[in-house]
Amino acid sequence: MSIIFSGVQPTSTPTLGNYLGAIRNFPNLQEGNECFYCIVDQHAITVPQDSQLLRERIRKLAAIYLAVGIDPKQSTLFIQSEVPAHAQLGWILQCNCYIGELERMTQFKDKSKGKDAVSTGLLTYPPLMAADILLYNTNLVPVGADQKQHLELTRNVAERLNNKFGKLFTVPEVYIPPVGARIMSLVEPTKKMSKSDDNQKATIFILDSEKDITKKIKSATTDSDQSIYYDKEQKPGISNLLDIYSLCSGKSIKDLENEYRDQGYGSFKTDVAEAVVNTLKPIQEKYFNLIETNQLDEILDEGASKAQSVAAKTLARVEKAIGLGRHS
Ligand code: TYM
Repeated sequence: MSIIFSGVQPTSTPTLGNYLGAIRNFPNLQEGNECFYCIVDQHAITVPQDSQLLRERIRKLAAIYLAVGIDPKQSTLFIQSEVPAHAQLGWILQCNCYIGELERMTQFKDKSKGKDAVSTGLLTYPPLMAADILLYNTNLVPVGADQKQHLELTRNVAERLNNKFGKLFTVPEVYIPPVGARIMSLVEPTKKMSKSDDNQKATIFILDSEKDITKKIKSATTDSDQSIYYDKEQKPGISNLLDIYSLCSGKSIKDLENEYRDQGYGSFKTDVAEAVVNTLKPIQEKYFNLIETNQLDEILDEGASKAQSVAAKTLARVEKAIGLGRHS
């Protein structure tokens, strides 16, 4: 049995990238493991948020987690800010990270580029993420490729404290899926698909209508060659659609290349869109049934209390080791 932890920011409706790169794997890991799935709302406020929208998105994300198949009887589903140990351990880890190593994080560089005012939280985002993971003695963290550097930092800070104070933390492994770890923008396929892209056509959101999904895929940037095969360098747009199609249909990239090689982009895109719609439709149906129920609050209350009981033990162990408070 392994302990699994992962989190998603409630900064907008999750995207097809979030789903294929990470969330899709969450329910599959439930069998035989102990899973903690978190709505990381404290990470969301490292950039400005509207309070009403943030509240709605937290709820929406909880319903999406359930709709993709997370079973609250098997997994602990909770909101980060409802478990105070995250911020408490986050502070301790900040005090054991160096400004230089945080400034080197690609996500920090990307999100702060060209901005006059950048919050301190954007810089100290990774130690809070490390706290999320380390509080639960996590063995495995399923994430997309963009989180690899943050996981390396988590491992480094865990080892740093273990070397200083004895074995305080389990050092986690990262799980990055072989296909789908980096779903690209539909408009600029050399860029990651992102929740915050200004161009709405670049990103498919999990709750998009059939019409919008089809429109976005039909207008996806490709190339002037008409042959369909996988080549990330020369054909980033087609390769991205092949990744998406493969994950949504269960067919291998090789089989898809053989099936579509000379069929032309039009009919290929129609079929990719259909596969995406068929993948998201059952999730959307479950989501719309869940979003209005009280069941959500009960699940989140129970999740917070289960998470807090595990997290409090780790926090106490760490505080005692470093001499904080009055632990005996
Ligand atoms: P977030 O909300 O930005 O993304 C959630 C998950 O989706 C993955 N992802 C992608 N995968 C494939 N293609 C894409 N275009 C794509 N875009 C995003 C991300 O890698 C992530 O796995 N820092 C995390 C949230 C977090 C966390 C944690 C994750 C906070 N604490 C502890 C794991 C463990 C993040 O940026 O999520």
